[in-house]
Amino acid sequence: MQVLVIGSGYVGLVAAACFAEAGHRVLGVDVDAEKVATLSRGESPIFEPGLDGLLTKHLASGALRFTTDLKAGIAEADAAFICVGTPQSEDGSADMKYVLAVAGQIGESMALRARDAKPLIVVDKSTVPVGTAARVHAEIAAALQKHGADRAFEVVSNPEFLREGSAIGDFLEPDRVVVGCRTGHAETVMKALYQPFLDRSGGKWFRMDPPSAELTKYAANAMLALRISFINEIANLAESLGADVDHVKAAIGADHRIGPAFLNPGPGFGGSCFPKDLQALLKVGRECGHPMMTLAATVEANRHQKQVILRKVKAHFGVKAGVPAPLKGRRFALWGLAFKADTDDIRESMALELIEGLVNLGAEVVVHDFAAMEAVKAKIGDRVRYAETPLAACEGADALLIATEWRQYRETDLEAVAKAMKARRIFDGRNLFRPEDMEARGWTYHSLGRRAVEGK
Ligand SMILES: NC(=O)c1ccc[n+]([C@@H]2O[C@H](COP(=O)([O-])OP(=O)(O)OC[C@H]3O[C@@H](n4cnc5c(N)ncnc54)[C@H](O)[C@@H]3O)[C@@H](O)[C@H]2O)c1
Repeated sequence: MQVLVIGSGYVGLVAAACFAEAGHRVLGVDVDAEKVATLSRGESPIFEPGLDGLLTKHLASGALRFTTDLKAGIAEADAAFICVGTPQSEDGSADMKYVLAVAGQIGESMALRARDAKPLIVVDKSTVPVGTAARVHAEIAAALQKHGADRAFEVVSNPEFLREGSAIGDFLEPDRVVVGCRTGHAETVMKALYQPFLDRSGGKWFRMDPPSAELTKYAANAMLALRISFINEIANLAESLGADVDHVKAAIGADHRIGPAFLNPGPGFGGSCFPKDLQALLKVGRECGHPMMTLAATVEANRHQKQVILRKVKAHFGVKAGVPAPLKGRRFALWGLAFKADTDDIRESMALELIEGLVNLGAEVVVHDFAAMEAVKAKIGDRVRYAETPLAACEGADALLIATEWRQYRETDLEAVAKAMKARRIFDGRNLFRPEDMEARGWTYHSLGRRAVEGK
């Protein structure tokens, strides 16, 4: 198959590399000329385990190429995937301007296809509101009409469920592939593209109508976010009641109706998807006269949770309202800037909110992350200091705060950390360590949903 992948961000780039891995010929398109040049040199502009290897391999084999020119691939393509961003608009809805712009460009370029070519399958892979397949269809049809061209095409919805940090594995071995389409031809093309992946994973194929496929993506993200907010509330309650959330989550997770995934308490969800997708679904619910009440509560609980570490720090250091710069003279080491481990993505990262809170209280913050330092530097510059290693961040710190669950943090030598710090004091937003171990080693240790330990 000849595949055009439009947008070379987290989703488009992974899709392009994986389709090439499955034996298809892929042209990746992006408006960002610098990104295209970087990619064409075989360098990945994002941190995603396994991606560099696939890029190098398939650029060398010629199966994968990148361009800024969408027209270059339209004549031969069997399928054109739209993978551009759908950021949050001011009113909460998904901003469709990039998706519709691409649809217009596809329509304008369609005359380059042979009159008797098979219908082009245009695939909405971006996360888009219900009804978008119809809007994209109308946009392409209008552009075609403007150019007096008559070419066959069908718009298909194919939401993406990959997780940053394990995106390559998720794409190559999906749990399921969801395809919203109306014709047998569209299903045949989509199956030809995805069957190699489903053969590897034994994942399920779901064919449905486009609106159902579009809603499936939002429903999945809403469900996952709901579980996170739920366990965070249980964790907060456990702390007040003297219970241990680790026991509770293990026991409820063993119930096959519930399952163990997505039951880890943390400092609130962030990232490029959940926050904006939840807002978009809330907006749609209001517009349809079906306000999404559980979703509204999920968002509200998450807003509260994003302050959880700051609340614990303020309580511990006796910060009182109305006192200017109450943390002046205090230094905090912050481990983790990305919104989760194994990514460099800092969109809606809770670490940024924590930094803002601490700096506003007069504190000095020294940060470390294994992949997201450059992104944070570009965003907030010298509001914080940057450390080369986790240990260096802890030099002279009054407390260590943990915001991202990088595996290497769990493996860091805590005795060396203690030597570098002013005090043995950790506020752990990811429950990397066990309170009883920390108590035995003399740490003051505050985590989520478990008893706090005060060092001697
Ligand atoms: N990041 C994720 O984990 C994830 C997972 C599932 C779904 N999604 C959805 O996929 C979509 C893309 O997300 P992302 O994280 O890859 O975004 P991104 O911001 O990383 O990438 C989007 C890319 O599209 C490019 N672009 C914009 N307009 C273009 C145009 N007219 N032509 C060509 N390229 C253009 C941008 O330059 C950018 O490189 C969003 O709707 C998102 O909600 C994301």
